[in-house]
Amino acid sequence: MTDAPSVSAFAKLDRTPMSTDTLQSDILGQIAAASSPEALEAVRVAAMGKSGSVTALLKTLGGMTPEQRSVEGPRLNGLREAVTAALAARKVELEASALNARLAAERQDITLPVAPALTGSIHPVSQVMDELAEIFADLGFAVATGPEIEDDWHNFSALNIPETHPARAMHDTFYMDQSPPGTRTLLRTHTSPVQIRTMMAQKPPIRIIAPGRVYRSDSDATHTPMFHQVEGLVIDRNVTLANLRWTLETFIKAFFEVDDVTLRFRPSYFPFTEPSVEVDVGYSSQTNKPAGAGEADKWLEVLGSGMVHPRVIAACGLDPDVYQGFAFGCGIDRLAMLKYGMNDLRPFFDADLRWLKHHGFSAFDVPTLSGGVSA
Ligand code: PHE
Repeated sequence: MTDAPSVSAFAKLDRTPMSTDTLQSDILGQIAAASSPEALEAVRVAAMGKSGSVTALLKTLGGMTPEQRSVEGPRLNGLREAVTAALAARKVELEASALNARLAAERQDITLPVAPALTGSIHPVSQVMDELAEIFADLGFAVATGPEIEDDWHNFSALNIPETHPARAMHDTFYMDQSPPGTRTLLRTHTSPVQIRTMMAQKPPIRIIAPGRVYRSDSDATHTPMFHQVEGLVIDRNVTLANLRWTLETFIKAFFEVDDVTLRFRPSYFPFTEPSVEVDVGYSSQTNKPAGAGEADKWLEVLGSGMVHPRVIAACGLDPDVYQGFAFGCGIDRLAMLKYGMNDLRPFFDADLRWLKHHGFSAFDVPTLSGGVSA
């Protein structure tokens, strides 16, 4: 009989129904008394580990006769389950009390007054983005966003800039990887890919602005490798260049808080618009603000725009014979510099507290059209 030695091993352990119960209450007592995760782990190993007391008992099951096993099996499994459940419950308790102790230790008195040196301010770029959202919301534009890590297709190809197009060289692109063209990712060089994402995701009529960060490998007093643009896109039936002009005039007047403005549309070239226009704002060197035809004495270039190219509309799955529209792209940092009189772009991103204090805005001055966008 092969099971004879095991049965005697079982006998040596002096198993009686009482001693299994005693063992169980013994282990459960140790679990309850364990006051740290380490102590609990020691109890677990002593009971359930490779040479633990419960494990040793479970091993004896293999050597029993069917009759013995039908009595001892449920009893020993019951023991194992009770110990396992008690270990898990105690673990949760210990973790909760460790967390509570930590929360109590890290308690902060938030009723203490903030030290003046820690008071933050709204960065001019954030302020201008809020102003843009406020102005364009009033004209019925929603705010759209897109990823800063883009793919070739959204950043270039869908915008009618094929692989061999010289315009690719105009953008000093940061590529993320060496994958073949068409599949590689890059840091978006403009906010125009949001045009594509918006047209693919929703049906016309579309009226959106898309403010955000863009990246080009360029750095001097007026260029930083990361800067901000706002894209505008309108797609509908019967949209014309006149609609673009009115929208831009209304925007410039509201943004610079002037009653009159004069715009100059210069023919230009962007692969994704046809016709393309660069827009200059008539500026008065006396008030240092945009001005009407009588007072403006110089032109400042502020944005690129045009009628969305039929190929771009078709690339997004829309019928260019039914839908057309306009788009514009504008540097937000430059808008902030013009409006708030800053002449160097680099300190925008230096995180110098003195600069931020001087040029920043109070978090409580939320731009509103009624209160003035730069109130
Ligand atoms: N994406 C262009 C740029 O970065 C700007 C632009 C946007 C021009 C939309 C026309 C229409 O220079």
